[in-house]
Amino acid sequence: MKDRKKTTELKGSQIEISVTINNQPQNLSVGKNESLLDTLRRASYFSVKHGCDDGTCGVCTVLLNGKPVRSCKIKAAEVNGAEITTLEGLSQDNQVHPIQQAFIETGAIQCGFCTPAQILSAKALLDRNVNPTDDEIRQVMNPILCRCTGYIRGVDAIQRAAAMMRSEKLAPYSHVAFTLPKDIDQLALPEAYYRKDGRRNPLPPLVFTPEGMEKTDVVGKSEIKVDAKKLAQGRPVFTDDFRLDGMLYGALLTSPHAHAIIRKIDASKARALPGVVAVFTHEDLPRVKYATGGQSYPQPLPYDQVCLDNKVRHVGDRVAVVAAETLEIAQQALKLIDVEYEVLPPVVDPEEAMLEGAPVIHDETDTVGIHDAAHNIVHHIEAEVGDVDQAFKDADFIYEGEYRTPKQQHVHLEMHVCITYLDEDDRLVVRTSTQVPFHLRRMLAPLINLPVKKIRVIKPRIGGGFGNKQEMILEDLCAHLTMKTGRPVRMEYTRTQEFTSSRSRHANIMRYKVGVKDEKVTVADLYLIGDTGAYGCHGLTVNMVGGFKGLTLYNPPNARFKCDVVYTNTPPAGAFRGYGAMQCEYGIEVMMAEIAEKLGLDEVEFKRNNWIKLGENMHLSKALGEGREGTEQSLMSTAMEQCVDIGLKATDFHAKRQANRQQSGYLRRGIGMAVMIHGSGIAGLDMGAATLKMNDDGSFNLLIGATDLGTGSDTILGQMAAEVLGIPLEDIIVYSSDTDFTPFDKGAYASSTTYVSGGAVRKAALEVKQQIIDHAALMLGVLKTDGFKLENRQVIAPDGRTVSLQDVALSSLHQLDQHQIMATASNISPVSPPPTAAQFAEITVNTKTGKINVDRLLMVVDCGRVINPITAAGQVEGGMSQAMGFALTEEMLFDQDGQPLNPDLIKYHIPRAMEMPATDVIFVQTSEPTGPFGAKSVSEIAIDGVAPAIASAIHDATGVWMRTLPYTPERVMQALQK
Ligand code: FES
Repeated sequence: MKDRKKTTELKGSQIEISVTINNQPQNLSVGKNESLLDTLRRASYFSVKHGCDDGTCGVCTVLLNGKPVRSCKIKAAEVNGAEITTLEGLSQDNQVHPIQQAFIETGAIQCGFCTPAQILSAKALLDRNVNPTDDEIRQVMNPILCRCTGYIRGVDAIQRAAAMMRSEKLAPYSHVAFTLPKDIDQLALPEAYYRKDGRRNPLPPLVFTPEGMEKTDVVGKSEIKVDAKKLAQGRPVFTDDFRLDGMLYGALLTSPHAHAIIRKIDASKARALPGVVAVFTHEDLPRVKYATGGQSYPQPLPYDQVCLDNKVRHVGDRVAVVAAETLEIAQQALKLIDVEYEVLPPVVDPEEAMLEGAPVIHDETDTVGIHDAAHNIVHHIEAEVGDVDQAFKDADFIYEGEYRTPKQQHVHLEMHVCITYLDEDDRLVVRTSTQVPFHLRRMLAPLINLPVKKIRVIKPRIGGGFGNKQEMILEDLCAHLTMKTGRPVRMEYTRTQEFTSSRSRHANIMRYKVGVKDEKVTVADLYLIGDTGAYGCHGLTVNMVGGFKGLTLYNPPNARFKCDVVYTNTPPAGAFRGYGAMQCEYGIEVMMAEIAEKLGLDEVEFKRNNWIKLGENMHLSKALGEGREGTEQSLMSTAMEQCVDIGLKATDFHAKRQANRQQSGYLRRGIGMAVMIHGSGIAGLDMGAATLKMNDDGSFNLLIGATDLGTGSDTILGQMAAEVLGIPLEDIIVYSSDTDFTPFDKGAYASSTTYVSGGAVRKAALEVKQQIIDHAALMLGVLKTDGFKLENRQVIAPDGRTVSLQDVALSSLHQLDQHQIMATASNISPVSPPPTAAQFAEITVNTKTGKINVDRLLMVVDCGRVINPITAAGQVEGGMSQAMGFALTEEMLFDQDGQPLNPDLIKYHIPRAMEMPATDVIFVQTSEPTGPFGAKSVSEIAIDGVAPAIASAIHDATGVWMRTLPYTPERVMQALQK
């Protein structure tokens, strides 16, 4: 570090340093051991983010004398005299830097939590080299984790920024559109999409549209995300980018034991510590039973938790909570709480947990709704259609197999964080990183003994959630502390607590039995064991969805589903993108490929012969809803056929399979495929509402309770409103979500936002459109409104006369028949139309080490009409990246005592930029008759197919079938040695 000056010791442990931050000289008083990260955030440089406890995530990266460093690993006291650049320093006079501009244009920003670090690292690279290769870009991105994007658009953004900095002229960034030929054999892709050169450079998504599909203006355009600029500038938009006078810091004491009774707890020493303002143990809070899963009213039973309990059921379970003047004091206080545990034997294996004599995890008497507490079975589910036993008797061939999927952690980069305070009317305000603000308000009320009307939940921007923020994790404790102290309280999990004390994907064991007659799957039986960990949370719904999707992809008329959802002494499972479907589709997809091989059939053709077809009734749709009985449904739109055929072409699948049979040597190439379906919201249950309000200048406020987690939902909902109103997206001001100001929405889960909330936006916009036309007709002195159109910010009468929207707004607000043009509409759907897709994976297996290298991932997706191809592609790319982690490396591990073995981002490995292969997305549009503009969902299906496609590729490469995820080198070697 250059220009190091002497520091000045102040009183106590404080030191004064002089630094230049973003070209401004500053004198700062810092703690001797304070990290640069903490100093910068304390000084309101909120673009510098906190995402882990050990310097592995990289989101705290800043430039120190021009070089990227992790600010959490550097003591502020050591940077005296240095020049520091944070993202705030890149925008001069609110003008964005070319790198920021490129990130905005390319859709490289999803939640935006990693964006400041990525942009600063890119700046350091481009300052020394404006001609970087893809690999050089990936290398500088590699230290910074991103869980949303798969890094694809980020690499593209940095290439584009480099071109801007070389003063090259650039075309607007967009997807590539083609008409879908009726005969797929006639289809030719642009050369690059065949990936013959083996490169992994990002390619824009392709969108194929069938002839005759209705044309749209704003819908279908790759619009820039409405929140992209503020995220690219690192504005203080997240929950924790907010400070209140007198704010206290909360900290949570968690259990070191997987199963124990708290015999005695003494918090007197903690309470006596100066600076401690409140301490709660189970002795201090009322015992109100609840479930943490954010679901519609009434939430499924059992309510098997209380805010603080006298029994702990997993390492990381809640024991006590402290509020203090500083986080350091709060953490010190936790160490002063004396807890006497009576340690009980734990059980961590779900099959052992069901055995006679296994430790009983929920032996309390006040939980109702556990199916069989003595055997730790929280739910037992059964559903059946047709005559399963007879169909097995009639089958030519019966195949059985067991498949296992792991407990995966979400690893959103922004951890669970919330701030609670009382407003000037003594109402409790909860500012929190949640996917379900309205469910949260309803669930929180009884726990803190406040009526719903006394609670306001504000959802700022969210740094990723993927389902983990569909749970009430910290808000109840934070609220209790505010109610007790009357002061604002902030609580945030540590990264370790994210692993031990938040939620995860259910680990599943699937036992499939499939009967085939004349090459048709006529019957299927699935026994599913779902490991829900210590609490029920989402146990019922996730596993029901798993059964339904797993048995509907091939939709045999005879199907049986049995499931036990089982408690274990491990951290609770919850909602996670894919939500049961990705586990059960993995099992059936691998099994179908295995059956094809056994029967000597081509894998693709056997699947084609059997996958669910257009117009087919989904046999289990009534018997298996989500948490209750469902509704009769059929498949009303699908492009599965075209998705598969395009993917076969783009990968040259059959020729590669042929070639792979001839290969030798220890590096073996393999290509695999899988097909998938998902859903779009929960049929007959999910409700979204939207309000549209016209302003004086003809712009509109779109108020939505729908929750943008970084997915771009604010943008696509704005596009839908703009499409109806004949205006550009920039005339829609989108606001989400605040329980005081936006109408109800069930929240962001179940792939519902585009479909369910989008339906509400479209309805509200149509009502507003009619009001505008009515008023314009009045202004023009026309009695009938037939034939009026909205286009280019104006109303066009059938006789050709026009009135601008601004004139309509001014007239309606100030002059003629004065009223506010606005509407609120709600939407619920009796069906949940499945998007369909095909996933392709190309890999190389090192047969000496067992290591699998993924060379290419391609997903061809039918999500109905694509509202915004770039944001939709971002969802698919990010989904494939999370799925690749699920397939190859990610598994939460525990020893026999229930102690976590990998609760950090070093031992638990998620994909980094250097590891992501060529990752391509192709859309095949369909028009779903029940969806807004023909749209279905896209986010969750993106995660469903990578694991089975890799399984199919491993078999192609090596001849072995692997049935247990993840495919670690050890497991691959074991399989090869067998
Ligand atoms: Fe990278 Fe969300 S955009 S973590």
